[in-house]
Amino acid sequence: MPVKPNKSKIRIAVVGVGNCFSALYQGFAYYEEHKEEDVPGLMFKDIGGYAPTDIDVVAAFDVDRRKVGLPVGRAIFSKPNCARIFMPEVPAGPVVQMGNVLDGVSDYMLAQPEDEAFRISDAKPIDIVKAIKDSKADILVNYLPVGSQEATEFYAQAAIDAGVAFLNCIPVFIASNPVWEKKFVDAGLPVVGDDMRSAFGASILSQVLQELAFDRGFSVDFHQQINIGGNTDFNNMMVQSRLASKKTSKENVIRAQNDLRGIPVVKNSLFAGPSTYIPYLKDNKVAYFNLRLRGFGDAPVDLDIKLSVQDSENSAGVVIDAIRYLQVARELGVVGALRGPSAWTQKTPPQQMTYADSKAACEALAKRKLL
Ligand SMILES: NC(=O)c1ccc[n+]([C@@H]2O[C@H](COP(=O)([O-])OP(=O)(O)OC[C@H]3O[C@@H](n4cnc5c(N)ncnc54)[C@H](O)[C@@H]3O)[C@@H](O)[C@H]2O)c1
Repeated sequence: MPVKPNKSKIRIAVVGVGNCFSALYQGFAYYEEHKEEDVPGLMFKDIGGYAPTDIDVVAAFDVDRRKVGLPVGRAIFSKPNCARIFMPEVPAGPVVQMGNVLDGVSDYMLAQPEDEAFRISDAKPIDIVKAIKDSKADILVNYLPVGSQEATEFYAQAAIDAGVAFLNCIPVFIASNPVWEKKFVDAGLPVVGDDMRSAFGASILSQVLQELAFDRGFSVDFHQQINIGGNTDFNNMMVQSRLASKKTSKENVIRAQNDLRGIPVVKNSLFAGPSTYIPYLKDNKVAYFNLRLRGFGDAPVDLDIKLSVQDSENSAGVVIDAIRYLQVARELGVVGALRGPSAWTQKTPPQQMTYADSKAACEALAKRKLL
C-alpha cells in the first residue's frame, strides 16, 4: 500500500547503538550544522524530496548495560564504541531500550577487556514490536554484530509485525534471501540489504577495479583484499564461526562482476575478508589490495593499493541514502527487496549490478521514477 508522500521527516528505529550508529547520529547533527554549505561526504542531496537531514531517530535498541537507559546522544559515546567524535554536541534523542540478546553477543566478546567488550544489561527485554509501533517509526535499521543470525531474523520479523520497512546493514541474508523477501512482499513492505557497501570502502574499490579490468579487456588471475581494523566489529569477527557470512558477502561483490559478464572465477584466485583485529587502529580500517591481471599479448599487470579510512563514518552516508530510498519506495507502493538501492548500497543485494546500472536505478528512484 503506498503511504502519503513527503512527510516532513523520515522516522527511524535502530537496532545496535555501536560505532556505525555513532557516526550516523553525529552525521545528522554535522550536516544540519553545515546545511547551507557544500560539504563533502554525501552522494545525493535530494532523494525524492528528502534532504539528508530529513531523518529523525525515534527509537533505539541495544543490550549493553553502558548504553541501555541512556539517551542515544550519550550512548553513542559509551564503551566499547571508538568511532571518531566529530560532533561532541548532539541532541539527546530517544532513550536506548533493552533488546533481545539472542546470538548478538558471543562468549568471546564477553571475555574481552572492559573497554573492548560487550557487557549485557540485566534490564528486562522490552516488547520490540510494541516499541516500534509506539515510536511511529517508518523504518527499522539493523546494525547488529556480524554473526547475529537469530537476532537479525528476530528484528526483521519485528519490523514486519510492526509494519515498517527494514534496512539490513549486516551480512545475515534477508533481502537477498527469497524466503525473507516474500515475507516483506506479503506484508506490503520494502527491504534493502544485505551488508553495507561503504561510500569509499574496500568493496566498492574492489568492484570498480574488477569492472575496469574486464572493460579494458584484461583477465583477472588474482584479486586479494585484506582488511585490518581496531573497532568492535573487527574484534567481534575474530570468532571464526561468526565470520563466514562476512567473507562470503565481501567476495560476492567481486564475484558478481565475473558472473554479470559470464567470466568464471578461477579456483583460489579470490580472497576478500577481514584478516585481523589490531586495537591500536580503533575505527581506522586499512585494506590492502593486490590484483594480478593479464592484458595485450598476455602481458602481466601487478597492482598494489592501500586504502585507509574511518570505517564507521565511511558507511554512514550510504545509510542516509538507503533510508531515503526505502521511504520513497514505500510512498510509491514498491514492496520487497529494492534491486537498485540494494546493489548500490549493499555488498550482497538480491541482484548484483554493475556500478553504472545500480547508480542509474538509484538516480531514477531519487526522481520518484522506477527503471
Ligand atoms: N563500514 C562499516 O563499519 C560497516 C560496513 C558494512 C557492514 N557493517 C556492519 O554493520 C554492523 C554494525 O557495525 P558496528 O561497527 O556499529 O558494530 P558494533 O559492534 O560497534 O555495534 C553493534 C552493537 O550491537 C549491540 N548488540 C549486540 N547484540 C544486540 C542485540 N541482540 N540487540 C540489540 N543490540 C545488540 C552491541 O551492544 C553494539 O552496541 C556490523 O555487523 C558490521 O559488520 C559495518
